[in-house]
Order: sequence, then C-alpha cells, then structure tokens
Amino acid sequence: MDYGPAAESTKEALAWLDQHGRRFGLFIDNTWSDAADTFATNNPADGAELAQVTQASTDDVERAVAAARRAQPGWVALGGHGRAKIMYALSRLLQKHARLFAVLETLDNGKTIRETRDADLPLAARHFYHHAGWAQLQSEEFADYRAVGVVGQIVPWNFPLLMLAWKIAPALAAGNTVVFKPAEYTPLTALLFAEICQRAGVPAGVVNIVTGDGRVGEAIVNHPGIDKIAFTGSTEVGRLIRKATAGSGKKLSLELGGKSPFIVFDDADLDAAVEGLVDSIWFNQGQVCCAGSRLLVQESVYERFIGKVKARMQNLRVGSPLDKSNDIGALVDPVQQQRIHGLVESARAEGCEVWQPNVELAATGSWYLPTLITGASTSNAVAQAEIFGPVLVAMSFRTPAEAVQLANNTVYGLAACVWSESISLALDVVPQIKAGVVWINTANQFDAACGFGGYKESGYGREGGKEGMYEYLTPLAEDARPSAPVVADKAKAKPAQEDSPFAVDRTAKLYIGGKQARPDGAYSRAINGANGDFLADIGEGSRKDIRNAVEAAHKAAGWTKATAHNRAQVLYYIAENLAIRADEFAQRIAQQTGSKDAAREVQASIERLFYWAAWADKYDGAAHQPPMHGITVALNEAVGVIGIVCPNENPLLGFISLVAPALALGNRVVAVPSEQHPLSAIDLYQVLDTSDLPGGALNIVTGSADELARTLATHGDIDAVWRHDGSKEGCAEVERLSAESLKRTWTGGAKGRDWFDAKQACGRTVLQHASQVKNVWIPYGV
Ligand code: NAI
Repeated sequence: MDYGPAAESTKEALAWLDQHGRRFGLFIDNTWSDAADTFATNNPADGAELAQVTQASTDDVERAVAAARRAQPGWVALGGHGRAKIMYALSRLLQKHARLFAVLETLDNGKTIRETRDADLPLAARHFYHHAGWAQLQSEEFADYRAVGVVGQIVPWNFPLLMLAWKIAPALAAGNTVVFKPAEYTPLTALLFAEICQRAGVPAGVVNIVTGDGRVGEAIVNHPGIDKIAFTGSTEVGRLIRKATAGSGKKLSLELGGKSPFIVFDDADLDAAVEGLVDSIWFNQGQVCCAGSRLLVQESVYERFIGKVKARMQNLRVGSPLDKSNDIGALVDPVQQQRIHGLVESARAEGCEVWQPNVELAATGSWYLPTLITGASTSNAVAQAEIFGPVLVAMSFRTPAEAVQLANNTVYGLAACVWSESISLALDVVPQIKAGVVWINTANQFDAACGFGGYKESGYGREGGKEGMYEYLTPLAEDARPSAPVVADKAKAKPAQEDSPFAVDRTAKLYIGGKQARPDGAYSRAINGANGDFLADIGEGSRKDIRNAVEAAHKAAGWTKATAHNRAQVLYYIAENLAIRADEFAQRIAQQTGSKDAAREVQASIERLFYWAAWADKYDGAAHQPPMHGITVALNEAVGVIGIVCPNENPLLGFISLVAPALALGNRVVAVPSEQHPLSAIDLYQVLDTSDLPGGALNIVTGSADELARTLATHGDIDAVWRHDGSKEGCAEVERLSAESLKRTWTGGAKGRDWFDAKQACGRTVLQHASQVKNVWIPYGV
C-alpha cells in the first residue's frame, strides 16, 4: 500500500511574502528599514527563490544596539507582570498563526511540515508561555539579580523559530532587550516574528531583528554596547566568539556541536529503540546538534538490531517537506548536501560499509538519503566529526564499561540516549556519560522547563527552565564590587616575629598528589614580608609542575565519586584543623600583608569552609515536570578538574573562598595561590595532610600567576579555569586561550571582590560555576 500525496497549502505563506513584495528590510526600534544590499533566501526542496533579505551593515547593528540600550530601562520598569502579559500575548499569537509559521519554516528550511507543525511551533509557543511565568515570578525567585542588559543572540538554521524562542523568551523574561540575528539560510520566520512583536505590544527597541551572514554576527559579537552573547551554532564559530569576547566582560553562553551516542543494551525493547533511533538521527534530516549520530549496540543483539534498523530505514518516506506523510525533507542547502556527501564518501574510501535504502529522490532540490555506516573504527572521521545530516555510524560493545568508554570517546558532550529495561543499569551508566542531556528510553525530547546544553566542546551555559534564566541575569552583588582589588593597608605592617613557628621553614615546596614536591625546574623565588624582610623561598612552578598536578588531579577521581556527605566532612575537618592553628595563620597573614585584620581573616576563612561544607550536600538538582508521562531529573555534577588562580589580597580567605566551593561540589583542583603572598596557602599543606583530603583532590603550585594561568588555560585535560587575581589582562588572556578547548572560565577581571563580604564571595553564582547540570529524561509507563 502506498500513500497518496497530502500536500499542505502554501497559499497563506506565499501571500505573506507577496504582501512584503518579497523584499525585507531590518526590524529595528519597531520600525522596518528599506531592503538594501539584499541576498536571496531559497526553498531547498526545489531551489526556488522565496525572498530577498537585507545584509545588515555595521551601522545597522549600531542602530539596533542603540535602540535596545534605550529600551532596556523601560522594559525593566514594566515589571515582571507587565513583561509577562506581553510574553503571554506573544505565545497566543504564535499559536494563532501556527500554520502560517509552520509552512513558512518548511518552505525556508526544507524540514517536514509534520515536524514544524508538531514540534517547532508548539515548543516555541510553550517557551514563551513558560518564560512569561518566570517574568511574573522574577521579583520573588530572582530577587538578588538584575537583567544583564542588552543581549546579542545568534542562531543557526536548523530550528530557526524554535532557536529564536529559546533565545528571546528567557532574555525578555529577565528584563533584557535583544539584538537577534537569524541564520542567513533561514531568516523568514524571524521576520514574521517581528510583526508578531508589534502586534503583541512589545515596546520599541526591546526586540530588534537584523539579518545577514557571519559578518553581521561578528559585528554583534564585537559591539561594545552588548552585555551578553548567546550563540548556537558550530563549534568552530563558537571558538571564534570565545576569542573575540575574551576580556570584554561580556557574558557568554555557547550551544555548540555534538556527536551524541545512542546506546542500546541487550535487554532493551529493541523495537521501541528503533523508533527512538528514527527520532534521534532522522529527525530534521539529522541536522540536530544533539542527534544520536553514533549508534552503540551490545554485541549479542547487534546483528538483530541492525537488521531492524535497515528494515525501518527502507520505510522512511523521503520527499517534499510539505507532504504531511513524509518523514524526511530537504537539507537546508546544497552546500550541506555536498559536505555530507564528502564525509560519507571518505568513509567508504576508508573501507567502511555504507548502506542506504532503495528510495528514489526528486531530481531538483537538496536531498540526502538516510544512511547507515558500519565497520568504522573510532578513528574514522565519520565517527568523530559532526556530520549534521541523516547519517548514522554504528558500532558494537560488549560491556557497560565499554559502552561508556565509547560514548565518551569524543570531544563533544551534548547529549546521549540509553536504552535498557533495567533502570538500575541505565541509572548506573547515566552519571558516567559526559553529556549535558541524557534520555533514558526516549530521544530528542525538549521542553521549556528543562535545561539544555553541553559538556566539553559542546559549549557551556544552559537554555530552558530556571537553569537557563541565570544566563540572562547578573547577581546584584556584582555591582557592589569595588573597581580595584582590595589590598590590605601596608602602612600598618606588623613586623615578622622572630619566634614565628614558620621562621625556620624557608624552602617551601609545591603540593602535588597529596605530597610536597620540589618544583621541576628547581627554581625558587624569595618572598618578602610587608616590612620588606625576607620571609621564605618558595618553589617557582612551571608547565611541568602544572602537568604533574593535573595528572594527580585526574588520578583523584575518587573525590568526585565520594558522597557529598563525605566531602562535607573533610571540609569541616580542614576548618577544625585550621582553627587549632588560627593564631599562627593570623601571624603569617600579618607578616606577609601587614594586614591588621589578619585574625578576622582566619576566622572568616574557617567560617567560609563551614559555609561550603554546608552546601556540599545541599545543592540539590531539580525534578522538572515537562509535559510527558515521566520526570526529568536535573543533576548538578562536578565540572571536573578546575584550575584556580587565587586573589593576591587576603591570601588565606581568597584562596579558601575559591578552592572550597570547587572541592565541595566534587571537583578536583589545581590552585595557584596569591603570587605576592603565597605562604598562607603553603602553610595549609600540613592542615590538609591531617584532614583526610585524598591526595590529588587539591594540588597547589606556587609561582608566577601569569605563567601558570597560561598553562592552565591551554592544558587539554583541565575543564575550567578561574582567575581572580585582579589582573584584567591576565583574565582576558585566560578567556582567549581557553577558547581552543572551550573550557569554562570564571574571571574577575580588574574588579576586586571583598572576600569578607558573603554577598560577593558566596551564593549561587559560585555554585553554578563549580557545577554543570545534566538533565536526565526518564519517561515511564507504556
Ligand atoms: P555557523 O556556526 O557558521 O552559523 C551559525 C550562526 O552563526 C549563523 O547565524 C551565522 O551567520 C553565524 N556566524 C557565522 N560566523 C560568525 C562569526 N564569525 N561571528 C558571529 N556569528 C557568526 O554554522 P553553519 O556554517 O551554518 O554550519 C556549518 C556546520 O556547523 C554544520 O554543518 C554543522 O556541522 C555545524 N552546525 C552545528 C549546529 C549546532 O546546533 N550544533 C548548528 C549549525 C551548524
């Protein structure tokens, strides 16, 4: 039996294009500019031109940013309820015009009408509904935060309207105004959305839509009037943006590529898993950042499962995206088709087996058949590169441990699927997979209430839910930070005391793997006290020492696996042992800095250790309630190995304020203590030795902050770098250098923190930097 054609009408969408003379200007300050310097946007299913769209100039971007800046105070002043009402109106209008939006999206992008109608549109509307709610609750739920300001948002072409909703809804809810750039292949639904904004009563300048290619994106990224960049797209461009924004103080979130594993255990419901696989890799022609493009099947069921997959592939209907019974539509552009073709053919040339169903394709248009590649090894390009097309690479595994190892064998960490009827097996595997989203017995589920975003080179930041809201908020305490580092009053230096218990210890070493270690280069530097007297020689740490420290940190994986209760106990114990020696530590601080607040600093450090110990087992995740029969569990996980360059001032309190939260949440740390006053951290070695902290969980390398920070930022096995020593240039460099491996960074710039002030040194922002969220989707029932 075959299906007859069931084409969706394009009448309304084409009439809308005609109404605009098929030429579009830019939407800035609620005004349409005349079309200028235009380029064509085409229908990839037949190559026909749909409209001419404007390539925005840098002046246009300038106008858009200025309009957004002018509008921002008014948008905030509307209050949560005022913004919620307008956002609610936006969702209602999206629903009311859902069909027009869906058809226009299908025409511009080539994705099937079934998907635009049943996935893109409902999810976009839900995003505005959900975030209207966050606007309403802002004063209660985010009382200690303010909007970031003007936000630049750049999206790709694979989910044009849905990505717009993911970006604009949380930004507006939090009180930001936006300059939004759709992808050059798919600008039309964003332009239709601009009209909807006018009708919903969005004030002038709150939403500005500028079209064009990467040059427009660059102009937005580099504009000094932008306070935050939110980007979704290729890892390559994400890296460029990280470099471009380094040191600018712009907040940044990156949703980048993926090579997500789809793991099938032998006890899985294989037929259900095949359907899940269809949703995972053939949804949107595989042009999905979280597509399950690597199929990993347990050896005992591999042949059977591959047979089922091929049979199902043979039944996939490929053709006109407007036909409601088609499963697979057109690729966004012939360029993508050629890219995919190139990757598949290179796999064939390398000896992989390439299988495609026997389906006829239309002569014109940008198509690619669903494709299965077997016989690839992990080193083949198709097993590592993001193909971004309907191409699946299958491999087998024997044990759960091997499945995890294969799953994590990628630079990416966006998503994963785990199929097993054993909840205990699935939940055992989930925490071991390095990915921001894991679906158990389901695939490609998204919802406005649940965070989405990656680990590793898939980017950082989350979109959706409360997790995503924080990306568009700035803690009020940040505004209170002084513009120069808080440096102790040296005039009142207290002289070093002859009977100091530290006076004899003049050759301090590094602390690596729980042991004191000589610096590799055997160099040392002299540290003088506030009164100029020589205090001690300290080790001059080098690249090699950092490498050793990182290695030790990796070996200390047990710290991450330890229970939060256990980690809390260790931190309390460190506090207790520090308290016993409080006087010595106070004396040392006074010796180094001349601070008259030394005793208070030690007491504050003890209290800070208690504070982070308290949080260790209380930073709970969340159980989200998306509209499905099941739950989504948001787990707060450790980031991994964090390199921390500590403040110069408050050598004990600054050190503990950064190292303790990282440890509390299960990270392992390579810390560079205060360059000027490192002795307080060195004195801690003995405290650590007596406090049950496992060797390698905290490693301390003294020396040049600039030098060591550089090594941390470029090291391939470090997951995040924090720098808070008040060096503006140094912070910028860390951000720039970390772009290569897309490490997360947390830098203080030139602004100092008052480490005594809990508002500036404690709280959720620190917890968020010390963790990453994994959303685990667990449907239940039949
Ligand atoms: P892209 O990353 O170049 O484009 C995404 C957006 O960034 C577009 O709006 C583009 O105009 C803009 N852009 C480009 N260069 C920029 C720059 N220097 N500064 C600021 N904005 C810039 O992705 P493209 O070229 O469309 O696709 C190439 C490949 O990237 C795909 O084949 C796929 O592998 C990957 N990709 C991944 C996506 C994901 O969600 N993971 C989305 C889109 C593409």
